[in-house]
Amino acid sequence: MENTFSEDVLDGLMATNKSLKSKYFYDDNGSRIFQDIMNLESYYLTNCELEIFREQAQDIFDAVNFDTHFNLIELGAGDGLKTSALIAYLLLKKIDFTYIPIDISQEANNILKEDLLKKFPTLKIKAKTGDYFEILAEMQQENDPALVLFIGSNIGNYTEAAAANLISLMSQYLKSKDKLLIGVDLKKNPVVVSKAYNDDEGITKAFNLNLLKRINTELSGEFNLANFDFYSFYNPQNGEVRSYIVSLVKQTVRIGKLSVDIEFRKGETIWTELSKKYDHEELEELIESKGLVLINHFVDRKNYFTDSLFSKK
Ligand SMILES: C[S@@+](CC[C@H](N)C(=O)[O-])C[C@H]1O[C@@H](n2cnc3c(N)ncnc32)[C@H](O)[C@@H]1O
Repeated sequence: MENTFSEDVLDGLMATNKSLKSKYFYDDNGSRIFQDIMNLESYYLTNCELEIFREQAQDIFDAVNFDTHFNLIELGAGDGLKTSALIAYLLLKKIDFTYIPIDISQEANNILKEDLLKKFPTLKIKAKTGDYFEILAEMQQENDPALVLFIGSNIGNYTEAAAANLISLMSQYLKSKDKLLIGVDLKKNPVVVSKAYNDDEGITKAFNLNLLKRINTELSGEFNLANFDFYSFYNPQNGEVRSYIVSLVKQTVRIGKLSVDIEFRKGETIWTELSKKYDHEELEELIESKGLVLINHFVDRKNYFTDSLFSKK
């Protein structure tokens, strides 16, 4: 059984090096702030992946090579902005498929479904709300082949061990004809990467502090957001961006529903997110070690981002 929000918050904030899991960013408010991040000029990831999907949809589906009805399953679909470029191509070519977006946020799913049906009234869509692994496990019974999308550099949010575990689970759940398209941010000029995680408008800060807001709302926390700031840094040697909430003062914060008082030193951090950048070789090594084989890398013109297609061995 997965831990609950309150168990994870308690474990994370009672630890010597405090942390909160990034999957908790995405309550309904957090999902909305993430849309704003994706619209930032400095957050190049969205535009790069969108360019790949707009300009290379045909190449991608030629490589996928399905000739019957298939399921287009998206893990953590969010607003589906980029995926809609793929959907537009498939509908234009009258290719028979059903889009199955999976997200833990009910609101993200509702908005997505409404937007897509407005844009594409003939789209067959079966949105599913819940943890993507639980749902993927249930879907193993389906006969039709699937193209599983794990895009937006979502894999970068997992530590090396967790990423390996996750790919291994995915590989286990894929049926023999299924394909996996994984969108990953590539190592590049560190200045470009740093700017993507430190916007001047304070949107990334609001996204992080929303975690504290969420604890206030759901667990009767008493965080005063004005006493916290946000900091992130990129280490080009290991490709890791790490993001933190910083306590600006020495303070004690009560979390009512957990019956605890959390002590913060001035300058103490809560680690909130890992956004790891890969290169192609590292990515292939990670994924091929879990029983999948590379078909092709699709990259944008600047070579900032890759959508890499894999099949079962
Ligand atoms: C970083 S966003 C990416 C959204 C989209 N794939 C994109 O590239 O724009 C991650 C999304 O995954 C969802 N998510 C995170 N962890 C999840 C999980 N374990 N199961 C299902 N959805 C999850 C979040 O709600 C959020 O919408």
